[in-house]
Amino acid sequence: MRILVVGKGGREHALVRALAESPGKPELFCFPGSEAIFQLAKPVAADGLESLIEWMKSNAIDLCVAGEESYLVKGEGLANLCERNGIPCWGPPKQSAQLEASKEFAKEFLVRNAIPTARATATDTLEEAVAAIAGEYPTVLKFDGLAAGKGVAVCPDEASALSFLDEVFTQRRFGAGRVLVEQCLTGPEVSVFAAIVDDQYLIFTPARDYKRANDGDLGPNTGGMGAVASRKLVSPEVLARIEQEIVQPTVDGLRRENLPYRGFLYFGIMLTPTGPQVIEYNCRFGDPECQAVMPLVQGDLAEFCLAGAKGELRRDLISFNDGWSVCVILASAGYPETSRNGDRISGIEKVGNARVYHSGTRLAADGVWETHGGRVLAVVAGGDTREAAVAQAHTAADQIGFEGLQRRRDVGILNF
Ligand code: AMP
Ligand code: GLY
Repeated sequence: MRILVVGKGGREHALVRALAESPGKPELFCFPGSEAIFQLAKPVAADGLESLIEWMKSNAIDLCVAGEESYLVKGEGLANLCERNGIPCWGPPKQSAQLEASKEFAKEFLVRNAIPTARATATDTLEEAVAAIAGEYPTVLKFDGLAAGKGVAVCPDEASALSFLDEVFTQRRFGAGRVLVEQCLTGPEVSVFAAIVDDQYLIFTPARDYKRANDGDLGPNTGGMGAVASRKLVSPEVLARIEQEIVQPTVDGLRRENLPYRGFLYFGIMLTPTGPQVIEYNCRFGDPECQAVMPLVQGDLAEFCLAGAKGELRRDLISFNDGWSVCVILASAGYPETSRNGDRISGIEKVGNARVYHSGTRLAADGVWETHGGRVLAVVAGGDTREAAVAQAHTAADQIGFEGLQRRRDVGILNF
């Protein structure tokens, strides 16, 4: 089997590795990929969506796996183009990927399908937004479009709300677009991933993302400084509610609204005092949750994704390890405001009993890995207990060093 994975980060490195470990030993390709990924998957000679499709056709690709979301909504859409050209694709078509690309679309879908979510009002101007907030703080403001994770502000007071609204409506920092004014929910968050194939689904191991930069869950929001994954993260009762009140109605809604879906769907959920509610959908796996979850997947992921892309959910092909997995992110100096490239990384080869996925690295001329992005490496270890996985992951992460390294020491430990 010949598989092409689309993306270039730590999530794609983890996906590529899990696919590479599939029993059928598929031949792997990655676009645009990274030097670390190219040690497992061959690079692709393409410079955009159209040429990527041409390349897949002339290279007899059996399956395209969408790692990151951007290509799903670019131009005609990656999955749409794959379908038109007869290439099975694990990832949804453009119309369905609006669940991630437009927060307003997602909110309307949730409301139409009576799926629990925060109340929200869409606004076109600063004045409308202020009127919708109606003096109720804290409030949550969301730019209605892809904004590289910077489009959401949880505002404790009027000053912070006005400052975000000024960025969106006056400075147009994210381009043109509306703002959702949303009720602020409280409670622990959990990331739930389902593999969806038409009217069927399979829920993967739940995970929790450590979103803020510093220990104690303080400091600015980041793309994610680590993750913990386990079936035991959420009680069976809560998981059953998530399935009945959120996952099943979402799958039913997609069918009813003629939104085809074959791929991973990410449910960002808040466990509020009145029950689980949807914070957001993403049409892909999470990063860094993927790095934590993939080592717990056993069986044949490659055949599972191929069968799914062709319309068959083969639950028999994979199973999930019952233990725990912890992923510690090592970030470069300045992250998340900026990032620093070119700091030489030492100690990767010293890591034992853990996996190291590359999020943002490159090889220097002398063959040494160096930083190349905000999030640099993901160090992942597993264990039968949470404590064992935490100890293993942090001990492994201790082996690695580079100038300006930033990392959270409480990943897997802090429970919230
Ligand atoms: P999003 O980009 O939609 O995942 O939002 C980023 C983060 O903002 C979430 O992970 C939550 O921590 C927070 N957030 C989003 N929506 C709400 C809400 N309605 N109430 C409270 N916090 C929220
Ligand atoms: N970890 C959050 C995300 O992938 O969006």
